[in-house]
Amino acid sequence: MTTQNKSRRIEQLIEVLADGEFHSGERLGEQLGGISRTAVNQYIETLQQLGLEVFRVSGKGYRLASPLQLLHQQQIQDYLVAEKIELPLELQRVVTSSNDVVKELRVANPTAGLTVLAEAQTAGRGRRGRQWHSPFGTNLYLSMYWPLARGLSAAMGLSVALGVGIAELLDSAGVQNVQVKWPNDVYVNNKKIAGILVELEGHASEAAHVVVGIGLNLSMPSATKNIDQPWTDLASELPTALNRNYWAAKMVSECYRRLQAYDSDGLTPMLASWQRFDKFYQKPVTLVMGNKNVVGRALGIDDDGALLVERNGQVERFHAGELSIRDVAEV
Ligand code: BTN
Repeated sequence: MTTQNKSRRIEQLIEVLADGEFHSGERLGEQLGGISRTAVNQYIETLQQLGLEVFRVSGKGYRLASPLQLLHQQQIQDYLVAEKIELPLELQRVVTSSNDVVKELRVANPTAGLTVLAEAQTAGRGRRGRQWHSPFGTNLYLSMYWPLARGLSAAMGLSVALGVGIAELLDSAGVQNVQVKWPNDVYVNNKKIAGILVELEGHASEAAHVVVGIGLNLSMPSATKNIDQPWTDLASELPTALNRNYWAAKMVSECYRRLQAYDSDGLTPMLASWQRFDKFYQKPVTLVMGNKNVVGRALGIDDDGALLVERNGQVERFHAGELSIRDVAEV
């Protein structure tokens, strides 16, 4: 059995089970090209490893905990055409990390906006070497290639720009209490809903190649564990039902337009919006940089996307670090 055939069978199995109804092992075996029930069971285990919740009830067969809305490339392209966005887009089912796929594809096709969407990531990564929980068919894993003509120094502002873009998008869809956390996390009701990972290739002085990766929680499986911070998903926060293909296209178009706007006008026109959503604005904070802690009052960001912290009556700029609210009783 080639890896390609195996992947094809996994995809077929997911497509059949996506309706959330029971399917007998025998019938599934036939639909997968005449394989045994033991083999079906092995494929089911693979689905479970991909984060899908599959139940087995004797006499009835297998079913998913809830129906899946799979992503469809054509539907996403149609939405993008309606928004007048033209870019190369590839939808893949299971990848290690969508950022890695973009890095490979951009070698042959270095088009600004080249995008990969994935249904699941087996090695999804977040900032600071953290793992990004990436179960199948529920959230959004999006990566886009962007050349930064102004070089690597423009990268910090770029991640801030994307954070504001996502915050505005969620807010305009009716999500309440959207906030951004410097440099580029998006929160709703104090729980993380989206993260951005900007990966750079190139040297400080020359044009840089950037891959931006965005993870947006759409409908995290209810059994999700092992996430080390409070999180939420769009299905829980939206006032209306969620359409994954629509949101995939919305996110692609928002990122593309944001990156274009940042290229042409920089961050300055977005600063007011950042301040509106800034979770820590005017708050007492601690910025952890390696083994150094900076304590002070957060005053938003400057035109480059650097964090402004007031301490001892002086405003200082910071380009890196992990920010948290400080309990004023600590000092
Ligand atoms: C973070 O908040 O730490 C950033 C998370 C970024 C996750 C996305 S999902 C798509 C892309 N592929 C990855 O492996 N990571 C990013």
